[in-house]
Amino acid sequence: MFSTTQKIGILGGGQLGKMLCLAAANLDLKTYVLDASPDFPAGQVCTGFVAGDFKNYDDVLAFGREMDILTIEIEHVNTDALRELERLGKVVHPAPDILDLIKDKGLQKEFYVKNDIPTARYELFDNEKALRKAVESGAWQLPLVQKTRSAGYDGRGVAILRTMADLDVKLLTGPCLAEELAPIRTELAVVAAQNAAGEVSVFPPVEMDFHPEANLVEFLLCPARISPLEAAEAEALAERVIRTFDVCGLLAVEMFLTTDGELLVNEVAPRPHNSGHHTIDSAATSQFQQHLRAICNLPLGATTQKSPAVMINLLGEPDYRGPVRYEGVEACLSVEGVYIHLYGKAMTSPFRKMGHVTVTAETPEKAIKKATFVRNTLKVKSDSKN
Ligand SMILES: Nc1ncnc2c1ncn2[C@@H]1O[C@H](COP(=O)(O)OP(=O)(O)OP(=O)(O)O)[C@@H](O)[C@H]1O
Ligand SMILES: [Mg+2]
Repeated sequence: MFSTTQKIGILGGGQLGKMLCLAAANLDLKTYVLDASPDFPAGQVCTGFVAGDFKNYDDVLAFGREMDILTIEIEHVNTDALRELERLGKVVHPAPDILDLIKDKGLQKEFYVKNDIPTARYELFDNEKALRKAVESGAWQLPLVQKTRSAGYDGRGVAILRTMADLDVKLLTGPCLAEELAPIRTELAVVAAQNAAGEVSVFPPVEMDFHPEANLVEFLLCPARISPLEAAEAEALAERVIRTFDVCGLLAVEMFLTTDGELLVNEVAPRPHNSGHHTIDSAATSQFQQHLRAICNLPLGATTQKSPAVMINLLGEPDYRGPVRYEGVEACLSVEGVYIHLYGKAMTSPFRKMGHVTVTAETPEKAIKKATFVRNTLKVKSDSKN
């Protein structure tokens, strides 16, 4: 039943939390955020802010006791407390057990294989020494991708090992997995949603291009430059993946379209995703509203893309650290179809995600052209240099 007095508790107060709160306000849904500081992005727009640590059992339990529905904007939260909250009758989406599975890239890969979901071939290793041995003995050949099993974020838990020398400088420590390097033609992300009644909807695939140094998505295009058949296959795969995980809420499915035209699932995120930000300005329903509809068991919204769009992340310029200053805002705002979203982080640092811009146009080419102008014009700096 629809009720605007239900309290939605969000673990994490970053930009994803902020945009969830903004979307909730449109339906007069009440949002409460748990994170370290009300100065974080979501603290400025939520109904209520609770200071605490979302990784801490007691903090999450105390926070959740006051809520009706709990959700997340970051995976690395205390799932034991979420399980206890479920036992206490709270609605928790995504389910804590699924969160635990997804948080561990090893378990995630096992899940794909077990459920016949296409993914790059892999092997688990207890630590980096065991992986090194496997390479030295020829059991694994270079190039390969090493991923730490947990705590990966923004590419930080990923190393692409191409040469034996890379083993000395790039090898990451701890339990890990080795994965075959996929011959990627296009990196795709498909954001899917499922509500508690089992209704599923899928946004059109987006194409992701990466910043080589920061390993963050720098440029995202929707619709992706793939064939209609490939798009339909990617959407069908995302639907199968969300149904198999049985996630309630959003599930962003990152995929590789290989040079052979094969789709491989890379990883999933059970929450709003960077690759869905363009939906705020260019889709019939935003991913944030879709997540809220799903976790409140409301009918899902249409996922139609209204016009081609490019999304770029606004990253802190490499040489600046300190109180943030934005350059070029006016010049970008004077261009039609440019939508600037600043997250409200007081301090910038190299490659920190400070905001994003969605650019819409009649054609993908025009959107790319305008986005390139924005990329060259809008700069995140500080008065103090690094
Ligand atoms: N098997 C693979 N073959 C080729 N490239 C890969 C492979 N696995 C990962 N990559 C590259 O590394 C990037 C980061 O990998 P992944 O998405 O698994 O890590 P992550 O740390 O969770 O990143 P993020 O949080 O930014 O999504 C991928 O987007 C892709 O460009
Ligand atoms: Mg990823």
